Amino acid sequence: MNEHAFWYLSRASGMVAWVILAITCLWGILLITRMLKPADRPAWLLDLHRWLGVLSLVTTGAHMAALVGDNYVHFGWRELFVPQASEWKPGPVTWGVLAFYVMVVVEFTSLVMKKLPKRLWHGIHLLSYPMFVMASVHGFSGTDAGNKVFILSATAVIAIFAFTLLARVLQGRAKQAQRAANRAQPAGLG
Ligand code: HEM
Ligand code: HEM
Repeated sequence: MNEHAFWYLSRASGMVAWVILAITCLWGILLITRMLKPADRPAWLLDLHRWLGVLSLVTTGAHMAALVGDNYVHFGWRELFVPQASEWKPGPVTWGVLAFYVMVVVEFTSLVMKKLPKRLWHGIHLLSYPMFVMASVHGFSGTDAGNKVFILSATAVIAIFAFTLLARVLQGRAKQAQRAANRAQPAGLG
């Protein structure tokens, strides 16, 4: 076996984790905007979204576990969970550590979402967007950031993400304007 096999594995699983995280967020946007209506089914979207959320955690866990198995750079409990503890690229790795914590909070608050006030749960859930930015800053500081295939695929993912997010923001604003117009309309006139 190649002596750096775990190092390669951790980098490959990092990329997989990032793509799955992007798809999880995209699925969440499809769920809240229902932009595929009438072709979609909310129950199916939610089921897949929940499953993707778990998969994001599992692939990130694999990414972190592979780092422990590797002896090219040293990663133990401290380096995995304490920001700035890693001697290897402490700044970029810290963005990964912070993204991981936010992911855990988003996932576990969702598992108990029925017990939380909806606004609180949704506020916490919106942290998914900064979390994706943190994970992207972290990922783009990796060894493969200069690789053409990596750059092309990551640009495609980010373009789809930005487009869907824009649709989400525009729809949110339209709904707010509609609510304001409904409130302004005098009772009994419509
Ligand atoms: C890593 C895990 C997860 C991520 C990154 C994530 C991300 C997202 C994102 C970005 C949205 C769109 C939110 C918006 O723009 O308002 C969303 C919506 C949603 N997510 Fe997640 N999610 C995750 C896990 C889960 C889990 C485990 C559940 C349920 C058990 C869940 C349930 C929902 C629901 C119901 C919506 C629609 C929100 C609404 O109708 O108010 N999510 N998610
Ligand atoms: C949301 C969670 C995370 C995601 C989506 C993620 C994703 C990524 C991606 C895409 C890469 C680039 C791989 C490459 O260049 O070949 C990477 C590299 C890396 N990640 Fe993560 N990561 C996450 C969390 C973490 C955590 C918690 C740690 C450990 C403290 C960590 C440590 C590393 C290290 C050491 C590298 C290699 C950097 C290099 O190649 O110079 N990551 N990660």
